[in-house]
Amino acid sequence: VTQVLSDPNLFRYKEFCFHSMLHTKEHIETLQDFKIKHDDVFLVTYPKSGTIWTQHILSLICSEGYRNGTEETTTDTRIPWLETKSPDIHVDWTKYAEISPRLFTTHLSYSLIPQELKTKKGKVIYVVRNPKDVAASFYHFYNIFVHLKKPANFDEFMERFLAGDVVAGLWFDHVQGWYSHKDEFNVLFLKYEDMIMDLCSIVQKICKFLGRELDETTLNTVVEKASFKNMKMDTRANGEHLPGQFFNENKARFMRKGTIGDWKNLMTVAQSEQFDAIFKEKMKGLPIIFTWDI
Ligand code: A3P
Repeated sequence: VTQVLSDPNLFRYKEFCFHSMLHTKEHIETLQDFKIKHDDVFLVTYPKSGTIWTQHILSLICSEGYRNGTEETTTDTRIPWLETKSPDIHVDWTKYAEISPRLFTTHLSYSLIPQELKTKKGKVIYVVRNPKDVAASFYHFYNIFVHLKKPANFDEFMERFLAGDVVAGLWFDHVQGWYSHKDEFNVLFLKYEDMIMDLCSIVQKICKFLGRELDETTLNTVVEKASFKNMKMDTRANGEHLPGQFFNENKARFMRKGTIGDWKNLMTVAQSEQFDAIFKEKMKGLPIIFTWDI
């Protein structure tokens, strides 16, 4: 374990950056032997890539009660975080044993994931977003999350982002790690931008992957309820239930803009070119085509 010099809230373990309030090395180590069930589903993302959006979609697909609003369950109770170990927001997923399928969320990198997942037991849904928008969204998040060292400006944040000194570590490593080992998993890769452009097709894709059939009316309901506008009003999805002491704003902390290309409002041309050069170098050979703008 090493400290992250630019932010005393974080510690590095292997290639990942953890938050000392939410994670412990001991807990992370135990996850290596975490027992997977055949129908488990793991939602995997780098932060700010549409995690809560996909949690909400999975909840809407898999739970009629959630869909009909008869169930109050929040997204992170329904799809708890694998790595989080905090008395404030930890959901005890050991009590979760009887639920089928079990759904989990994680930001963990490829090498920290439960080993048994690599035997293709269980399913993985990996959501990826273009990293310039990830950086922009992350920057705004750093400005509202109290227990992260607030960057003086975007310039400083970009430096930390490109050094991997942010929660979850280096974006490039995260995506490369998961993508280059994709054949070890039963995995569905999704792009945030595709979700923006045609959510209905993506919901159908997820249903197919999970072996679920939704009739047309239900499918339309899921798509409608997963729209940005509706999620912003849905207290189960927009983070209003999270402990107030974590944020310096009260409402809708995770539903900010929900667009493609917002990085243009933050990055200078020089920063964008610097980003492109690093991207080109680090992502060599990665066949994913990103949508940077529409
Ligand atoms: P922005 O900050 O660019 O608006 P995560 O859940 O991984 O932290 O990701 C947060 C990002 O997903 C935020 O991006 C948020 O607005 C966006 N998001 C959440 N719900 C969305 C939805 N229904 N449609 C589009 N974007 C959504």
